Amino acid sequence: MTARAPLIAGNWKMNGLRASLAEAAAIAKGAEQSAARVVICPPASLLHQMSEALAGTRVLVGGQDAHWEESGAFTGEVSAEMLADAGAKLVILGHSERRTARGETDEVVAAKVRAALRAGLEPIVCVGETLGERQAGQALAVVTGQVRGSLPAELAGRAFSVAYEPVWAIGTGLTPTTAEIEEMHRAIRASLVELFGAAGADTPILYGGSVKPSNAREILHAAEVGGALVGGASLKAVDFLAIVEAAA
Ligand code: PGA
Repeated sequence: MTARAPLIAGNWKMNGLRASLAEAAAIAKGAEQSAARVVICPPASLLHQMSEALAGTRVLVGGQDAHWEESGAFTGEVSAEMLADAGAKLVILGHSERRTARGETDEVVAAKVRAALRAGLEPIVCVGETLGERQAGQALAVVTGQVRGSLPAELAGRAFSVAYEPVWAIGTGLTPTTAEIEEMHRAIRASLVELFGAAGADTPILYGGSVKPSNAREILHAAEVGGALVGGASLKAVDFLAIVEAAA
């Protein structure tokens, strides 16, 4: 793990009703003493209430996606400015569930990253190969291509992170070996340095995909792993807090 505080982000996906705010409050209470940066990304419907509920705690709130325009005739979409207005400080962009189900290309993700910066949000930009791409020996090329295509030059000098999430590891209970994670994170690091020079050496690279209390310590202490993006295990305070603790 790098010297900077690890970032542990919970991606609640399409889960959470108002009753779930109690879980977020329990996370904030348990994370009081943590050295990690902790963020919960609830569905947009809960953002405002969660940011109010967590005000004054160490836990930040983030969005799961943002449209690239500030406002307009885009039914059902939420802009980065709206997320910021609701209290978000960070935003996940380019998650594979959006790249796959919504056809988001690297160009779309890059436009969303620019929108996040415009709104003052810190982007967490997701990349990751499918199982077929890994089996074909293309994982490194696919992921470094996504890094180059999804990170616009405007990120220079701005706070952001990259999340490596192998598509086949998301929600499946499968994870790459530590050696595979390290190999990929080193390749992403090299791309970041190519793109952003010395500053690219400091960008946190998170790992995501079936992170849980039982594997968090090993993953979080692997080379070039600067934190975790956690889906399923972020929904329960006890599990998420065990991962936050493993980051220390
Ligand atoms: P998972 O999801 O932890 O449930 O595998 C991770 C993610 O999709 O960000």
